[in-house]
Amino acid sequence: MAPSFDAAAVAAHVADAEARVQAAATLAALEPLDAELAGRRSVLGAWHRELGGLDEAERKALGRLLHEATQSIGAALVARRDRLEADDLRARLDADRLALDELEDLPAAGPVERGHRHLVTRTRDELEDVFVAMGFTVAEGPEVETDWYNFEALNIPPGHPARTMHDTIYVDAGPAESVVLRTHTSPVQVRLMEAAVRDETLPLHVVVPGRVYRRDTPDASHLVEFHQIEGLVVDEGITFADLAGTIQSFTSAYFGPDIRARLRPSYFPFTEPSAEFDITCTICRGARCRTCGQTGWMELGGCGVVDPAVFAAVGIDPSRWSGFAFGFGIDRCAFMRHQIADVRALTDNDVRFLRQF
Ligand code: PHE
Repeated sequence: MAPSFDAAAVAAHVADAEARVQAAATLAALEPLDAELAGRRSVLGAWHRELGGLDEAERKALGRLLHEATQSIGAALVARRDRLEADDLRARLDADRLALDELEDLPAAGPVERGHRHLVTRTRDELEDVFVAMGFTVAEGPEVETDWYNFEALNIPPGHPARTMHDTIYVDAGPAESVVLRTHTSPVQVRLMEAAVRDETLPLHVVVPGRVYRRDTPDASHLVEFHQIEGLVVDEGITFADLAGTIQSFTSAYFGPDIRARLRPSYFPFTEPSAEFDITCTICRGARCRTCGQTGWMELGGCGVVDPAVFAAVGIDPSRWSGFAFGFGIDRCAFMRHQIADVRALTDNDVRFLRQF
């Protein structure tokens, strides 16, 4: 049977179809053209069905023409749809645009007040700057800790009397392990040492600022939630003298050249020997006053040489490495440097107080 179409008919159909696609002005007008021009019920579809009755050579030649025709019409449809969709989107965006010039009758919001960092944040940043200048890096750790990091790895086993001072807020995390709001930044020491052993990145010279929690009764010099900055150095040949020198350099860099540090023997389970460090009273500059209890000194924090038991807990070889650690209150630094009478003012959020700094 002779086909009812030829190459010229196919070309004419394609030309007509492409013209109709171009002429579709909206997505709604384009939508039915898909079926009409290229679908099974279209002219192309009917021609396709004729192919079966043709002899081999003719079927091949016309089949290829029909295939190409379907492709070109399909491509024209896709291109037109993309174009119309883009126009549509632009039209919707234009319609959504806020006509700011039509809002001129609304009253102005008034002068915008510029805020500033909270005194504690600023103090933390300043302390970091001092330590970074001394060659330390800055790290952080989680505020919710396991008993292992907060106590055990720091050589404070269950029932150890040192826990009493730190008795804290326990978080219920099931029976397996007790979870606490960390009572100091020292657990981050353990995390950093573990990571340095794992990644073979010793030595460590790092400070760790962060928030800590204690079961204290708030008063003029205590907060339940406060901030510490921890220091940890693990290197070869580190001695107590490095610790003393670091504390002294920090004190004069942060508080000023006339403020000195002194170390008093003390006890922490995770350092040996341990010390507490005081600085010259910033109120009377050492002349003895009420604030410093007539001693001329104010207590700032604790420190010491890393205890071998801590190295054992994290797998550091004490015959090669030694280190020191210290920790002190950030809020306390702010309090001393700015002579704040009551630390609770730092968390009251009274802008009349905060604005002064
Ligand atoms: N973590 C101790 C505390 O909060 C301070 C400290 C840090 C002591 C590091 C020694 C070494 O009281």
